[in-house]
Amino acid sequence: MLEKLVYLCKDNYLEPLIQTVPYSISEGCEAKFVQITKTKGVKFFWTKIEASRSFNRQKKAALHKFGPKVFSEDVERFGFTDKNAIHIQWGYITEIAKTFNSLKELKDYKSKNINHMDILRAGLRKMRIGGYDLHFNNIGIIRRRLVCIDFGDESIR
Ligand SMILES: Nc1ncnc2c1ncn2[C@@H]1O[C@H](COP(=O)(O)OP(=O)(O)O)[C@@H](O)[C@H]1O
Ligand SMILES: [Mg+2]
Repeated sequence: MLEKLVYLCKDNYLEPLIQTVPYSISEGCEAKFVQITKTKGVKFFWTKIEASRSFNRQKKAALHKFGPKVFSEDVERFGFTDKNAIHIQWGYITEIAKTFNSLKELKDYKSKNINHMDILRAGLRKMRIGGYDLHFNNIGIIRRRLVCIDFGDESIR
């Protein structure tokens, strides 16, 4: 997809583009994820409140190495440009995890790292920051640890 990513600062001025080359975008039901550098990406939500809840959970998780680091100090407004418009959403910059390409890849990982999934699930639930939606697309690996990458509202119910 040949779109451009722009950053909007708080007083509505358009900041210079973060990225002008084509980027990859992943979409779930609640969030969109755009890779902007080798190690960083932006996670977007439709509303500020959803973005803030995810940001706060992920920040706590990252302290315990249960999730990717967050690089934004708080949620910010970001926009995509296409030919006709700028689509503005709320989000934050996050570290990128290596995701699993297939269920087989995940199975192999689990068989070599037997309690990683249980430790992650129990840790997130204990801290009340998730652990209820840890499927194939919502986990990844950072520095050889299994992490949760989806801190949306679905992850806590
Ligand atoms: N930190 C991350 N590192 C790598 N990929 C990510 C990261 N966060 C999200 N993604 C990708 O974006 C997709 C959607 O993000 P996610 O937070 O799971 O949204 P949703 O809540 O809509 O499922 C994920 O399935 C994954 O492919
Ligand atoms: Mg997801």
